[in-house]
Amino acid sequence: MKNVALITGASSGIGLELAKIHASKGGDLVLVARREDEMNKLKSELEAKYSIQVKVFKSDLSQPGAAKVLAERLSEANIQIDVLMNNAGFGGHGLFHERNIEQDMEMIRLNAMALTELTHFIIPQMIQRGKGRILNTASSAAFMPGPLQAVYFATKAYVVSFSQAIHHELKPFGISVTALCPGPVKTGFEKTAGLEGVDLFKMALSPAHTAKKGYRGMEKARMIVFDQNLLTFSVNWIIPFVPRKMLLKMIEKMQTIK
Ligand SMILES: NC(=O)c1ccc[n+]([C@@H]2O[C@H](COP(=O)([O-])OP(=O)(O)OC[C@H]3O[C@@H](n4cnc5c(N)ncnc54)[C@H](OP(=O)(O)O)[C@@H]3O)[C@@H](O)[C@H]2O)c1
Repeated sequence: MKNVALITGASSGIGLELAKIHASKGGDLVLVARREDEMNKLKSELEAKYSIQVKVFKSDLSQPGAAKVLAERLSEANIQIDVLMNNAGFGGHGLFHERNIEQDMEMIRLNAMALTELTHFIIPQMIQRGKGRILNTASSAAFMPGPLQAVYFATKAYVVSFSQAIHHELKPFGISVTALCPGPVKTGFEKTAGLEGVDLFKMALSPAHTAKKGYRGMEKARMIVFDQNLLTFSVNWIIPFVPRKMLLKMIEKMQTIK
């Protein structure tokens, strides 16, 4: 296989669009998610359109140890990863103390732990080759606390912090790490997170747009990439200067279901 990109959460939304972009550049793919049928559909479509190879690995990455098992399966299949896109993730709405704690723990395991573990297992082969690209799908939620989505916002803050730190560590090895920080995007995310009816999603962008921004940012080895200019401005020039209590009220209002 050549110029292989492993994409988690490749069965829909942003991950599926990232797969299309990588395929259009002639790169091979390893698709990872739980819905095998969706990934096989994408595999057939992309292999018919481009002269590339696509491998599908069904995995529930929220299960403890799943990332390690995936890395072992890749090694057994002799597949080396050039580009790692940690994109699988989900959110969940509600007051933290009233939410199902198991769902929140699953969210932490997927959004933060699996991403960390998989990255750990893939980096050594990139170091050996002296190059590699990593794209972690975080969120603009990473830059503020999120009442009514407390755990989700916290997992994304983790992803941004972790990504920046290892971007710095890995620079001497020729490896870049980019955190993609989208605003609302029209995908399955809204329904899974129980956010239908939240006004914010009226301004949602297409996953194709967000994926394009992320992929381009990764190619340029950017550390942080937003999918809207307004977000870049808000995160850098508004949010840091708004008093915390006021910010918390604003975010709570934005997450409220009408
Ligand atoms: N949409 C937004 O507004 C938005 C905004 C900011 C950030 N994001 C982030 O963007 C990323 C992609 O989400 P999306 O918007 O494209 O939503 P999506 O369409 O729901 O895609 C989520 C992907 O993650 C996979 N996934 C979920 N649970 C999994 C598990 N346990 N194991 C393996 N894969 C799993 C899903 O595949 P299966 O169900 O087949 O497993 C799916 O491919 C997420 O990290 C999300 O937090 C989204």
